[in-house]
Amino acid sequence: MRMRKKKHLDERLKACEALLCEKPEAPIESSLRHFEREAPLCLEIGCGKGGFACGMAAKHPEACFYAMERIPNVMTAAVERAKADADSRPTDNLRFIVANAEALNEWFAPHSIDTLYLNFSDPWPKERHAKRRLTHRRFLSLYFGILKENGQICFKTDNAGLFAFTLEELAALGITPTFLTDDLHASERAAENVMTEYEKNFSEKGFSIHMVCFSAPKSEKA
Ligand SMILES: C[S@@+](CC[C@H](N)C(=O)[O-])C[C@H]1O[C@@H](n2cnc3c(N)ncnc32)[C@H](O)[C@@H]1O
Repeated sequence: MRMRKKKHLDERLKACEALLCEKPEAPIESSLRHFEREAPLCLEIGCGKGGFACGMAAKHPEACFYAMERIPNVMTAAVERAKADADSRPTDNLRFIVANAEALNEWFAPHSIDTLYLNFSDPWPKERHAKRRLTHRRFLSLYFGILKENGQICFKTDNAGLFAFTLEELAALGITPTFLTDDLHASERAAENVMTEYEKNFSEKGFSIHMVCFSAPKSEKA
């Protein structure tokens, strides 16, 4: 039974292979690798079912997007959605990567990314799992390594505990946010916001959405 499920999954991913990236021999250094044009590069980590990545790619034809997700099953939903949506995107500017963020610098060259998005990352509420949080300083350090000078990281979540933890990590690294709100949908960024699947779900239930944006500390800049 398990084998059949896996085979089915492989077939579904294969049907969308034009949108999926193979592990590169050399890390991706610019949009020229997959998009044959120079454009700002954006990366979402933990894209889930892909609503944000598809929405951003359609809204921003001037940029190119990669969406990374570590669970192939979840990625199948994202990439099938992107394939179905392809006609509504004015340009070919979206690719998917099945990988763990731990391996980021095997995928992306130093200082290659303009904007990195973390949306509704798993909160890992137990203290002993803090290192698994995607805003733990060990992940932040990986992100800073692939961000361009003045590149931005944008993180949004409904989870007050994870948000407080993230702000503590930033403070410990001497980072001042460039944007910070406890109610994104009532903020000046509401109009430009593209909602994720989790965001729709939690905001419909009445949770407010926190957001923080920041760049690398001076010591880690390109
Ligand atoms: C809570 S879901 C949110 C999904 C989506 N961003 C949204 O807002 O609807 C978090 C996603 O991040 C993925 N994820 C967690 N840790 C990851 C890692 N280290 N590398 C890549 N993806 C990861 C999970 O598999 C899951 O699909």
